[in-house]
Amino acid sequence: MTLVKSNGYNIIIKNNSLDSLCKFFEDKKYTSYFILSDQNIIKLCLPHLLIACPKLITAQIIKIKSGEKAKSLKFSAQIWHTLIDKTADKNTLLINFGGGVVSDLGGFAAATFKRGIDFINIPTTLLAMADASLGGKTGINFNKFKNIIGTINQPKGVFINIKFLKTLPQRQLKNGLAEIFKIALVNSHSFWDELVSFSQKTSYHTLITKSIQIKNKIILKDPFEKGIRKSLNFGHTIGHAIESEFLNSKAPLLHGEAVLIGLLIESRISYQKQLIPKSVLLEIYLVLTSHFKPRSISKISISSIINRIKNDKKTSKNIFLFSLINGIGSFKLDVIVSETQIKKAIMDHNKLIR
Ligand SMILES: NC(=O)c1ccc[n+]([C@@H]2O[C@H](COP(=O)([O-])OP(=O)(O)OC[C@H]3O[C@@H](n4cnc5c(N)ncnc54)[C@H](O)[C@@H]3O)[C@@H](O)[C@H]2O)c1
Repeated sequence: MTLVKSNGYNIIIKNNSLDSLCKFFEDKKYTSYFILSDQNIIKLCLPHLLIACPKLITAQIIKIKSGEKAKSLKFSAQIWHTLIDKTADKNTLLINFGGGVVSDLGGFAAATFKRGIDFINIPTTLLAMADASLGGKTGINFNKFKNIIGTINQPKGVFINIKFLKTLPQRQLKNGLAEIFKIALVNSHSFWDELVSFSQKTSYHTLITKSIQIKNKIILKDPFEKGIRKSLNFGHTIGHAIESEFLNSKAPLLHGEAVLIGLLIESRISYQKQLIPKSVLLEIYLVLTSHFKPRSISKISISSIINRIKNDKKTSKNIFLFSLINGIGSFKLDVIVSETQIKKAIMDHNKLIR
């Protein structure tokens, strides 16, 4: 077992056990329990949770549809309706059981219901285990913009049981791996070096623990993203714009897949701004394209990407501010990037990844 102390709560990582979760229920006396989950997780993972923690057999299940579109006001309202219908009080616990969509949405609904009820995260995807379940960022997409409405509100605990990854499809594993590569690229040269030689044999316990330890150090120092936490947004300014562009297409991109493209293009911007030499840019392209197959974005209009960036949280009065890298494992915050530089980076990227 690995225990990481975060902002007033523990993150517990185990290979095949939820006994710490059962202990948590014994110690805390909640009046009622609600489990938020999507249809896949209810089918594949919920039986294991109920066997491990029989106390949850009487919990009310709130089922949402799977996928990014559930991170919306509509589904948030569904949660609030159920909580009201089932007379949830201030001492109710919401259990977010699923991927990053479930923890972002559930965390947001819990933070706003009766001005805040407790919630915990039991992540079931690699992305949620290594990244989304900690740090307290919660939120929904609105008006076709990613995460534009939300709160920073910490869970009461994060309980990771790696066994849940057994049923996760390969594409979703890669999706989570992309965020792990981002954490290394921005914050840890040694972890990046380990990931370069990543193979199927590398244990998920090690990957998840390292990723959490690095992210946790940052969020403890800067829980409200006033400074160094912004470094974790590397790849996300472009990534979110691309993810939003694809959201209503026939073949939407997963979050990590969009972030991967964002990492490549924002590395290119870091190079244009002379923050990294060409050799580092080439290394990043080589490593990321050998582990992943980035989707081509050549059919997306560059001006619509720029328009979306205008609504990015870091853009102020049409000045584009980026969190960039100035080496592998180190970053530079609030770098002003011009529209021309963004366009050039996307065009140069499109010449390589068609
Ligand atoms: N709050 C944060 O700090 C933070 C950080 C990174 C990403 N995010 C957010 O996380 C979201 C993406 O999360 P995600 O990648 O986990 O996606 P997701 O929650 O949509 O889950 C991916 C898919 O896997 C299925 N699934 C989940 N667990 C499974 C399992 N064990 N076996 C089989 N299928 C399973 C789900 O039903 C879903 O279809 C995005 O909305 C992103 O913005 C948030």
